[in-house]
Parts: sequence; C-alpha cells; structure tokens
Amino acid sequence: MERKYVAEPFRIKAVEPLKMLSHAERVKKIKEANYNLFHLRGEDCYIDLLTDSGTNAMSQTQWAGVMQGDEAYAGSSSYYKLIEAGKDIFDYGYIQPVHQGRAAEKVLLPLFLSEGMFAISNMFFDTTRAHVILAGARPIDCVIEEAKNPHIRAKFKGNMDVEKLEKTILEKGSDNVGLVVMTITNNSAGGQPVSMKNLQEVSDICKKYKIPLCIDAARFAENAHFIKRDEEGYQDKAVKEIVREMFQYGDMFTMSAKKDAIVNMGGLLGIKEKESPLVLKVKANCMSYEGFFTYGGLAGRDLEAMAIGLYEGIDENYLKYRIGQMEYLASRLDEAGIAYQSPVGGHGVFIDAAEMYPQIPYYEYPGQTLCIELYKEAGIRTCDIGSYMLGNDPDTNKQLKADFEFSRLAIPRRVYTQSHLDTIADALISVKKRAHTIQQGYKITWEPPILRHFQAHLAPLS
Ligand code: F0G
Repeated sequence: MERKYVAEPFRIKAVEPLKMLSHAERVKKIKEANYNLFHLRGEDCYIDLLTDSGTNAMSQTQWAGVMQGDEAYAGSSSYYKLIEAGKDIFDYGYIQPVHQGRAAEKVLLPLFLSEGMFAISNMFFDTTRAHVILAGARPIDCVIEEAKNPHIRAKFKGNMDVEKLEKTILEKGSDNVGLVVMTITNNSAGGQPVSMKNLQEVSDICKKYKIPLCIDAARFAENAHFIKRDEEGYQDKAVKEIVREMFQYGDMFTMSAKKDAIVNMGGLLGIKEKESPLVLKVKANCMSYEGFFTYGGLAGRDLEAMAIGLYEGIDENYLKYRIGQMEYLASRLDEAGIAYQSPVGGHGVFIDAAEMYPQIPYYEYPGQTLCIELYKEAGIRTCDIGSYMLGNDPDTNKQLKADFEFSRLAIPRRVYTQSHLDTIADALISVKKRAHTIQQGYKITWEPPILRHFQAHLAPLS
C-alpha cells in the first residue's frame, strides 16, 4: 500500500495534555493492573487505542448543541431533533434512543430469542454475543472463510457466507433461528466491510425462511464509505444514499452511537415500520431498562449531540480522512513486514499476533501478549480480539479457539495526528524486533463467567 496521509478536514481548537510515563513506570503499572489493560488508568496511557467507542472528539457544533440540549423528561426538543435525523438517514419508521449499543441489544434480543434457539451473524461483537447467551440462545458466526486469513487482501471480508448461513438455518430448523444479525462493519473480523450485494443476499435468505434481519450498525458510515469506494455501481452515489439503501435490507437495527455518530455516549434502536406490536414491546422494555422512550437513558444534551454527530459521521471528506488514517498506518506496517488483517478495515488496524508470536499457542493468548508489549514499549493501550476475548464455551467451560489472534489498534475519531500514528508504527517495529525473545504468553488467574476480558486477572507464564 502506498504511503499517503489524507490531511485533516478540521483544525484543533482545544487540547488535552498527555502524561508520559517512563518504561520502568509502565512495567510497574501493567503488573499492578494484573496484565489486563482495562485495569490501567486512562491517564497512564500515552496513546489510548483500547477502543474507538465514545473516545471520539466532538465538533464545535456538537459542543454548542450540548448547551442547547433540552432536558425535558418527556418530549424534549432534542429528542425530536434526533428522531428526525434518524428517520432521515436510515429511512426507518421508529427510532428509539438508548444509552449505548448493548442497551439496544438488551431491549431487543430477548424479544426474538429464548432457550433452545439460535442467532446467526456474520460475526457477533462480544456484547451482542453475550446478550444472545443471556437470552438463553446460542450464537453462531458464519463469516466468509477469507476473513480468517489476514493475508488475503479481498474486498468486503466482513461478509456473511450465505451458503453456510442457509445450511445452518436448515440444520437448526428455521423456527429455531430467532434472528440473523449483520454486523457492519464486521468489528471482530477487523472492521471489515460488508457489501451491498451480501446484505441483499442475506436479506433474501431471511425472507425465504421468515427470519427477521437485524443490522448491528455501530460503524454504518464507515461501511457505506467502503461500498462507495469498492463496490461496482456505487462510486457516484452519495454516502447518505448508500446508507439508506443498506438499511432497507434490514428489518431493525441496534446501534452504538459511540462510534460513527461521534458522541461520547449514546445508542439507537430502529424498527423499519412505524407502528407495530414490536414497537410497543420495544417501548415497554425501554421504559423498564432505559427510561421513558423520549430519552432512553440519555440526557437531552446527549440526544442533541447525537443528532448532529449522525450527520458529521456521514460527511464524505471526513470519511476519506478517517479511513485514510488506517491506510496510512497500514502502509507503514507493510514497509516493516508486520502482518495485520488486510486490507485494512474501518476503525483500526488489527495486528496478526499469531504471526508475530508463532511460539505462543492460542491458550496463552498471543493477542493479549502483544497488547502488553505495546504498552510497555510506548504506553500504547490496545486490546485483544482473539481467544482471550472469546472466552470459554458456555456449555463445556473449555477455552474456545478463536479464528484469529489480533491485537486491535482502534483509532478514535478526530483525536490523534499523523505523528501519533508514526509513534504507533515505530513502537510496533521495536516490539516485532524482539518478538522472538518472548517464549511464553499469559495464563488467567481469575475470571468472571461472562465478558471475562474486561475483568480477568492474568500472569506471565515465564
Ligand atoms: N456492536 C458492535 C459491532 C460494537 O463494536 C459494539 C461496541 C457494540 C455493539 C456495543 O456497543 O459499547 O455502545 O454498548 N464496541 C466497542 C469496541 C466497545 O470497543 O469495539 P456499546
């Protein structure tokens, strides 16, 4: 990939100073955190790539919107502004704010799933997977095989394997499949996009077997950018138009607004039809779990910032710069021969830790090992997307083997500069140079039963 940086379509108005710890201090901090990067204090991370969720920089327009947020308990003007934006962008009849993506999952998934049932996805994100299991059902991933090989530079590696989807539906019995979920972009596979054609094919299969299709839409705008860039027939279409077309293939969506709607907190749930028994059930669940349906667990100022952020997230100049940052970082890794899920996806660079540490087996967590090394090297905080995150089989309690062992460098939106990206690339190059000196990975010394990666304690094996 050619080394090129797309200049920022903004300038910086407020700055946040960063603390810089010494190497010895970082070694101490990560040990005190039980080698779990979620236990580090944010201020102890020089470059925080743990997530692109809620860590984004809001614009001056959004901050101005915060002041204008209407805090009425019911029917605030900020709510109506958000609903109008949601309907305009997604073309859905019913839009429900919630406090974040997993809240939408908690409200929606139990309405379709129960004991003995299945939900099928291209790939479930971990909270969505958890909510499938909490509803009593079992999650099944059917991503295309190419996604599992980081070296295959195929377009739309986030796609569902439609043959496998249909086979799985027939095997489990269509009545037992409560929901199909399309995660766009496919976070766990490396922020890889899903094509319009694939969305259409999955929608056709869902219609054939009368299974509802839910879009997990956290990174919908980045997905639309890739369709415009890479899918035949979309080059001359506006991103907004592409978004509306994408959503027509779904029946409903859950969305963490902390990503592409560029807010620090918020989520949405959308239902295609305006009024239906489903909408009533969503409202009822929302009022029990989130709050009255016109605020859904958020302050009026959050609703206002989200309404504005939804439009900023689909701005085409912003998206070119945004994906350009990933492409720039990837080009530096190409030069250094560091493997990552390629081609680079939407919200980060997913380093192939299994290739960096072939000597470390999946049950010693190569992804987590690399995350720890990067923190020690340069104070860069990342997270494992591999066997450590996947956890144990809910039925046998045995460690599952993930399809890949990634360390995810998630890039927050509008936050870091080109020199930060260079610092990240330089750190990775140093870590790679001494990769052969690390003989063993880590073991878990304590873990909770679900979503363990957030809380588990680890210890080095050597
Ligand atoms: N779906 C996807 C695809 C996600 O990436 C996330 C969150 C969620 C749902 C849940 O949303 O955090 O607002 O409750 N992903 C973050 C991440 C946490 O770091 O990838 P949430």
